[in-house]
Amino acid sequence: MASSSSLHLLVAVVLLLSTPSSAAHRRHPHAHHHKHKANVTSPSTPIHQACRAALSPDVCESVLSQLSISLPPDPSGSDVALAALSAASRGHQTARSNAQSILDAAGSDRNRSTAARNCLELLSLSDHRISAAIKALPAGALADSRTFSGAAELYQYACRAGLTKVNDTQIVVDAMAFLERLTNLTTSATAMLAALQRYGPDTSRWGPPQTERDGYWPDAAAAGSGSGGGKARKSFPRPGAPADATVCKGSECRYRSVQAAVDAAPENSTRPFVIHIKEGVYEETVRVPFEKTNLVFFGDGMGKTVITGSLSADMVGVSTYNTATVGEDHNSRLFLSPFSRAKVRDVSFNMS
Ligand SMILES: *[C@@H]1O[C@H](CO)[C@@H](O)[C@H](O)[C@H]1NC(C)=O
Ligand SMILES: *[C@@H]1O[C@H](CO)[C@@H](O)[C@H](O)[C@H]1NC(C)=O
Ligand SMILES: *[C@@H]1O[C@H](CO)[C@@H](O)[C@H](O)[C@H]1NC(C)=O
Ligand SMILES: *[C@@H]1O[C@H](CO)[C@@H](O)[C@H](O)[C@H]1NC(C)=O
Ligand SMILES: *[C@@H]1O[C@H](CO)[C@@H](O)[C@H](O)[C@H]1NC(C)=O
Repeated sequence: MASSSSLHLLVAVVLLLSTPSSAAHRRHPHAHHHKHKANVTSPSTPIHQACRAALSPDVCESVLSQLSISLPPDPSGSDVALAALSAASRGHQTARSNAQSILDAAGSDRNRSTAARNCLELLSLSDHRISAAIKALPAGALADSRTFSGAAELYQYACRAGLTKVNDTQIVVDAMAFLERLTNLTTSATAMLAALQRYGPDTSRWGPPQTERDGYWPDAAAAGSGSGGGKARKSFPRPGAPADATVCKGSECRYRSVQAAVDAAPENSTRPFVIHIKEGVYEETVRVPFEKTNLVFFGDGMGKTVITGSLSADMVGVSTYNTATVGEDHNSRLFLSPFSRAKVRDVSFNMS
């Protein structure tokens, strides 16, 4: 996992998106297939197969098999992913009550109470996204579901990162261990959603995650998996597309900070809102509210457009959810979270 010291993050595509409204009326692409595909010779088999989509199949299998997950007979990949998300959702109750116990035991230790309060808030944000992922999945909005699940991971990670600063009591150590399992579970769910998107619901066709580094671009995968894409996805802007907002330090730009451009973006947008962040170093932490849908960030390239954010803006660890947070996705690429429903390309993040 990432340490909080000076990370230089090279970010390509972080999270996938499509518009919730356009996705809502796409049918589940493969719903008619799953009757005769899954191997149900033993209850662990569907999980075993689905976990092949994870970067660490063993971790995925171990985390999932420790849970009482109920799967329908002959489960599709979608069923397993949904079960993983549902288990993650239930896990938030425990994670939150752990954080509450830390807060209750904090006494006058402000570092401890800050870390616990941040966790309560971050976990609530995470839970919100898991719920959104669960809602999007049966509607066939796989890209949305994956985006939400990925965002949830990062909020969980941020909570855990804050706790590492006050991890000198057993109650905190236990809370962190639980969070690690929860994050591993969520990461597994995200990987399954990616596989679902790429290979369809037949888990026997699932394989390890791929990234755009392998030439994998989600639009192509979505089209290839037979979901038919959709107008919103096909029109996803590529680097160089006309920007809705341009950010730079000079007077030629309307926005001088990334946050200002984010603030100017419409809420609940069903079409992409492109923010071009010109070459420069932006010392800010950016918060993208949940309602700012479909933001797309393009920089001028790795090492040219650099956003720095402090992980210790307040007093202990990750202080607030509007502090930029970092995490590690299921492909082990470091990436950042503030753009929780956004796509990011060609921007470096440098956080300390
Ligand atoms: C199911 O999986 C098991 C173990 O991988 C294998 O031995 C068995 O032949 C499979 N059954 C079917 C029907 O594919
Ligand atoms: C709280 O955190 C600050 C900064 O990390 C540190 O200097 C201080 O000693 C901590 N206080 C306690 C009570 O641990
Ligand atoms: C507590 O956090 C420190 C870093 O702040 C880390 O080195 C240590 O391994 C952590 N301990 C546990 C039990 O997580
Ligand atoms: C969580 O995942 C990490 C990285 O894959 C692994 O090293 C760790 O053992 C896992 N922990 C648990 C409790 O599953
Ligand atoms: C965006 O949607 C949320 C509910 O999802 C709603 O509360 C909010 O008012 C909407 N904002 C606008 C500007 O329509």
